[in-house]
Amino acid sequence: MKCRSFLLFAVGLTASALVQAGATEDLARTCNNCHGMNGVSVGPTMPSIAGQSESHLKTLMLQWKSGERYSATMGRLIKGYSDEQIAALAIHFSKLPWTPVVQHANAATLAKGKAATDHCETCHGKTGGEPDDADIPRLNGQWAEYLELELMKYREDDVKMPHKKMRKNAKKIEEGDITAITRFFAAQPK
Ligand code: HEC
Ligand code: HEC
Repeated sequence: MKCRSFLLFAVGLTASALVQAGATEDLARTCNNCHGMNGVSVGPTMPSIAGQSESHLKTLMLQWKSGERYSATMGRLIKGYSDEQIAALAIHFSKLPWTPVVQHANAATLAKGKAATDHCETCHGKTGGEPDDADIPRLNGQWAEYLELELMKYREDDVKMPHKKMRKNAKKIEEGDITAITRFFAAQPK
């Protein structure tokens, strides 16, 4: 390749990468309407998505698109996106920092929640902030009401939630511990 045509080729590549990055930014802005500025939610039933792992974000979106996973809203919305756009959105939000929204809870609730989360530690870490692998979401500083809604979905057999292990773990929780558990994770700064 001659020097000049190589230069034109390189400029072209950079330009198309920029156009693509710009397109992803535009798509991501439409998510912020519900998920908050840069993916940090203002709650209480809407989850923060910035800083969750690429793999977790992508898995959920693809499961909604294929209809394998229950949703109130995301299934309908994500069907309009190509798999490439979904992959780009997952990368975009995973690169933003995880920003816990620390929600105050009283000492008795925190103690009860902590005691009931022994089973959760191996995968989510002591405070929900140290996921053991890339498929595990962060729970620390996630909105308590959202965490509670998710746990209720995993517990209901007729709600489509494909992750078998998380279903099993959610079903083991005593009904009376659910609120304390979600308040405990929501109160953790890291
Ligand atoms: C109209 C509001 C709305 C918009 C816009 C929206 N979402 Fe959602 N999102 C929700 C709701 C509601 C949930 C909870 C799941 C459900 O029931 O649909 C959710 C859940 C999620 C989750 C699950 C997070 C977790 O860890 O459990 C991800 C990931 C997500 N959305 C990504 C996106 C992306 C990416 C966009 C932009 C393309 C987007 N959402 C746009 C309403 C919205
Ligand atoms: C074997 C590992 C494992 C254990 C043990 C475990 N989890 Fe999970 N958890 C996961 C994975 C993986 C996901 C994502 C599953 C999916 O794709 O639906 C998840 C998802 C969740 C979610 C949904 C969060 C979101 O952003 O959508 C909540 C809430 C949760 N776990 C709470 C708990 C609690 C409470 C316990 C203990 C009682 C627990 N988990 C035990 C692996 C685990």
